[in-house]
Amino acid sequence: MKEKISKITNEVDSFLPKSLDEVEIFRLKYQAKNGLLNTLFNDFKNVDAKDKKEIGQAINNLKIKIKEKISAFSEFKVQAKTKANFDLSKPTKNSNLGSRHPLSLVESEIVRVFSSIGFNVSEGPEIEDDWHNFTALNLPKEHPARDMQDTFFIQTNPDILLRTHTSSVQVRHMQNKQPPIRTISPGRVYRNEAISARAHCLFHQVEGLYIDTNVTFADLKQTLLFFAKELFGEKSKIRLRPSYFPFTEPSAEVDISCNICSSKGCAVCKYTGYLEILGCGMIDPNVLDNCGIDSKKYTGFAFGMGIERIAMLKYRVNDLRLFYENDIRFLGQFSSEI
Ligand code: PHE
Repeated sequence: MKEKISKITNEVDSFLPKSLDEVEIFRLKYQAKNGLLNTLFNDFKNVDAKDKKEIGQAINNLKIKIKEKISAFSEFKVQAKTKANFDLSKPTKNSNLGSRHPLSLVESEIVRVFSSIGFNVSEGPEIEDDWHNFTALNLPKEHPARDMQDTFFIQTNPDILLRTHTSSVQVRHMQNKQPPIRTISPGRVYRNEAISARAHCLFHQVEGLYIDTNVTFADLKQTLLFFAKELFGEKSKIRLRPSYFPFTEPSAEVDISCNICSSKGCAVCKYTGYLEILGCGMIDPNVLDNCGIDSKKYTGFAFGMGIERIAMLKYRVNDLRLFYENDIRFLGQFSSEI
């Protein structure tokens, strides 16, 4: 009898359920009417009187053990269930990490390149007045070049508009600082364009400004070549074509050698070997004077590029709208190592 009790006690001690069902099977085995515990109590009747005390105590201890075990495990399970929502230290399921937006990646890469040669970053308002966006930049009212940038005006006040370029930030910067000035102005701009694979009513720009004594067109060209090599690889070449912007004279459009076909000619570069990436020029002396900088003493250059355009070339994206649809199948393809 003693042996039987100690064998059952060992069994009970080593019982470690994995589910509530197992706890129930355990309960039936030991506590049910015809379970092992009652069998022991029945056998107890035949125990010798001298052993009754010792064995009675052993059976009672076993009974308590079984009871504790059952309640411990059913309690444990219930606790686990209700606590799960609140246990902040519990490891979670694998969560999907977000990734940086491709436009942010390209913007910070451009900022990194220009910061490395001494440019700082300046920002300004997206809702601008006419003077900062146009007039200060040699674009007086009724100037035909205003048509180059279809503008969103605020209906109740035609003097207020959504900035069409971040040149307005450069104007603000010149008003507040004296040369030497080296700054880039990244930001969102707006134009009243039909939305297509190549154009959107909002997009992002980085514009750059460098003003000091004796700044020449050669400085501009070398700065842009450095930028092109940093962003698109050491083998990149640039090409400048004469162009027109009201705020720069002379002005140029800059093309970069096509990195898809190594300038051999392909559908992306329309078999020219080059892709247009930005506009630039020497700042018109009028603009310097408008902003309180002495044009007799200082010269400077400015350039401006669309971040979407650079991102499309860099990542070979053929539809600009993809950047705004927030489809995570698209966004998830970009890592922060550009
Ligand atoms: N502001 C011009 C644009 O948005 C770009 C530019 C900037 C061109 C500076 C020349 C110099 O199109």
